[in-house]
Amino acid sequence: MSTTGRNDDETGQSDDRDPAYPPEAEVGEVLVTEAEIVRRTHEIGAQITADLAGEVPLLVGVLKGSVIFAADLMRAIAGPVELDFLAVSSYGSETKSTGVVKILKDLDNEIAGRHVILIEDIVDSGLTLRYLMSYLRGRQPASVRACTLLLRQGDHNEDLDIDYVGFSLPPSFVVGYGLDARQKYRNLPYIAVYTGD
Ligand code: PRP
Repeated sequence: MSTTGRNDDETGQSDDRDPAYPPEAEVGEVLVTEAEIVRRTHEIGAQITADLAGEVPLLVGVLKGSVIFAADLMRAIAGPVELDFLAVSSYGSETKSTGVVKILKDLDNEIAGRHVILIEDIVDSGLTLRYLMSYLRGRQPASVRACTLLLRQGDHNEDLDIDYVGFSLPPSFVVGYGLDARQKYRNLPYIAVYTGD
């Protein structure tokens, strides 16, 4: 991973970006550059293509953070693929301590017999992933896999079995590429440390 990349022009898309955005007071070190995300997303897409050759995988993104990764990952899969979304409640620290995850938006279609891949932007405590994997398995799919762009390092989630992991990161507050701080910075094309209040 690179520690540069805030104005990374490896993709040729950053020349016209506003140098004042994002503010340096709130968005600090870039932990994963845009080019690194593109490269890794294509590697995972190729792996999924190979693992599910001959099938039509159903990607299930968890709103809202996974939207950008899911959209890019879908395009990195070389074959038919479908997309659906789940939304879950977020009660902050209360959710994590009680272990309660509530589904706010369910799948649009049945998944019985389907090969499902749950797509997350980040796995931290693993509470959301554990709950949703169990929820999906209860609906008789042919298989359920888990995919996350980011895995926050720590002993709290070591027991998780995640099929596809983009990057493991130290436990800092990160934003960009779908991840937010009070709903902002999801549009940054890289992952950076949030340094605001
Ligand atoms: C984040 C992330 C996961 C969850 C991971 O969602 O997208 O769904 O938290 O945390 P856990 O492993 O500790 O359960 P968030 O609540 O920030 O909502 P958002 O995706 O709408 O930003």
